[in-house]
Amino acid sequence: MTYAKSALLFTLIFSCTAAQLLAEKTNRIVVNVDQGKEKISRHIYGHFSEHLGKCIYGGFWVGEDSPIPNTRGIRNDVMAALIELHIPNLRWPGGCFADEYHWMDGIGPRSERPSMVNTHWGGVTEDNSFGTHEFLDLCEQLGCEPYICGNIGSGTVKELSQWIEYVTSDAESPMTDLRKKNGREKPWKVKFWAIGNESWGCGGRMSPEYYRDVYRRYATYSRNYGDNRLYKVAGGPTANFPDVFFANYHWTEVMMRDETTRDCMNGLSLHFYTHTFHNYSITNLLEKDISQSATEFNEKDWIAILSESLKMDDILTRHSAIMDYHDPDKKIGLIVDEWGTWYQVEPGTNPRFLYQQNSLRDALVASTTLDIFNKHCERVKMANIAQTINVLQAMILTRDEQMVLTPSYYVFKMYKAHQDAALLPVDIECENYSHGDDSIPAVSVSASKDEEGKIHLSMSNLNPGRSIELACELRGLNAIININGEVLTADKINSYNDFGKTEEVSPAPFGDFKVNRNTIHIKLPSKSVVMLEIR
Ligand code: AHR
Repeated sequence: MTYAKSALLFTLIFSCTAAQLLAEKTNRIVVNVDQGKEKISRHIYGHFSEHLGKCIYGGFWVGEDSPIPNTRGIRNDVMAALIELHIPNLRWPGGCFADEYHWMDGIGPRSERPSMVNTHWGGVTEDNSFGTHEFLDLCEQLGCEPYICGNIGSGTVKELSQWIEYVTSDAESPMTDLRKKNGREKPWKVKFWAIGNESWGCGGRMSPEYYRDVYRRYATYSRNYGDNRLYKVAGGPTANFPDVFFANYHWTEVMMRDETTRDCMNGLSLHFYTHTFHNYSITNLLEKDISQSATEFNEKDWIAILSESLKMDDILTRHSAIMDYHDPDKKIGLIVDEWGTWYQVEPGTNPRFLYQQNSLRDALVASTTLDIFNKHCERVKMANIAQTINVLQAMILTRDEQMVLTPSYYVFKMYKAHQDAALLPVDIECENYSHGDDSIPAVSVSASKDEEGKIHLSMSNLNPGRSIELACELRGLNAIININGEVLTADKINSYNDFGKTEEVSPAPFGDFKVNRNTIHIKLPSKSVVMLEIR
């Protein structure tokens, strides 16, 4: 090699190293390995499934006589995929549907169950073939805890109180006799019960002051039977319509401020969806004029959705501040029991079935939102993505006997490592990713330590245009023995997985990092989610 050539090579190497150091100076993470004290509740990784579109019927439930392989009517392919996620809890039967659901219509011989019209979701006939026994069987097959939402919008105190008795009581009573007659001798253990859903809107258009009194009445007659201890979740605010004052911070304040209510409430729900819309109607907040498609979008739309979803951090901070004021010991959990992306439905599908595709962008919404929940785990005790199958930000899409695993599914699979682990406090300095008028932090991160002492570090690069080099110091760790990495990314910002095609978005091994004592130098690919397991 001539001198000139080697000088050029030296300059190139030197400038690359200098650029790398400069980049790492701006992108720095410190994980305080020796300081984890809060546990990330596994229930933050919960799911939500409503009688809406093809979530239950066609998604979970095909019936015992279906040619699609099933166990007592529940699809085997779907269950095998969901078991991989270690779903901790499943919320059911709604949503808006919960407040018009009469549980007694969904028990007993299926051929004798009365049907009803699902007025919220397309006016379709609901034959009630999937009811309480089928749902609890589904939870047993999944190995998750049920989370049942009671009807206070069109139901009665007696109805909810008897539902709890029917499901959880081991005493001799007409309700438990009925359960036994319907084939279940032993009670189920069901801890999580919600008292109404979106009572400011589809659940009865109540004021917070009125709802609070209704809540106390229902909560009083929601009893503990045997050793089953209820965790009662009060209907909470929405963060989607900040200008609808009564349904937002005021709702949290009213629910939290008096001791009598706090005394009978274990959790307060909060809903926040990621969407952009042209306008919405104050009288019917479900009538939103959604502006974005799930797959046909450009970089402006990409950053708009990510900026919107990152608002979750501020929303949790503000609602937690109200809760902290009234409940400084954090006895009451903030339960984000509906969250996820909400786009225009797929062309040609029923507009009230809320069926949408799921792209790499959704994977980043999922990873960054889960990072935010982890960070707030002192107050956030449960969250439920909407919804598990075929509705909104789904894990799984089905078409007859076919099934697709979405990019969001893979994020939940990668992130299960954080369930019930100790949150490790993280300090992060990172560059911004900007496009047009929008600018957001380019990197999102979360770290935890599990019971075996393994550290999990999840990182997302929201910039679709460039990879990011960063230095991550594991402060308090003497030596790194081994690291395994996984990455989720794709060619395009709107890559997605579709029926009958090779997956465009699925995890792959990741090895673009170097270790120097207790610091890892990582190159995060553009628009990616990376999970490192560190020993
Ligand atoms: O998840 C779809 C709907 O969104 C739910 O039924 C309702 O609670 C919310 O407005």
